[in-house]
Amino acid sequence: MAENLTISTGNKVEIYHTLIPQIKNIIKDETDLIANLANITAAIHETFKHLWVGFYIVKESHNNSNTNKESLVLAPFQGPLACTRIHKGKGVCGIAWETGNIQIVPNVDLFPGHIACSSRSRSEIVVPIKNTANQVWAVLDIDSEHINTFDEIDALYLQQICELINKE
Ligand code: SME
Repeated sequence: MAENLTISTGNKVEIYHTLIPQIKNIIKDETDLIANLANITAAIHETFKHLWVGFYIVKESHNNSNTNKESLVLAPFQGPLACTRIHKGKGVCGIAWETGNIQIVPNVDLFPGHIACSSRSRSEIVVPIKNTANQVWAVLDIDSEHINTFDEIDALYLQQICELINKE
């Protein structure tokens, strides 16, 4: 496994073109999901120096009436402490889970229901990760300290990174 990460000094497309083959190489011989998610967060975080890069995984949980309910539960991440559980339809992550669509948020203050895990977060992108039955089983969430950080280029390449992840 590569121990050093090469980071392109070029534009965003070139940076992703350098990053993605390295992620492929890092996860190709490892079958453990958490180990791979951990290294993917580290690779993206080290490359872009974003405020927060992490995964939330859909897991069963129990609410007060003791009914089984699913929520997004915090998984490997890099950055400041984060909220541990997010319900379906809540916040940017919960909406990405509910709709199955990538959410690009140029300004979190203008996103109704945004969950502010860090007051330093100004913009955000969330990519839903789907299984073969097209169900969302996790999301990749990235927060930036700057307004308007993420665009369709990030959506395209982060989606490609998420497609590399095998659940089992
Ligand atoms: N802002 C997210 C919550 C997760 S933290 O940013 C790490 C949201 O609104 O879903």
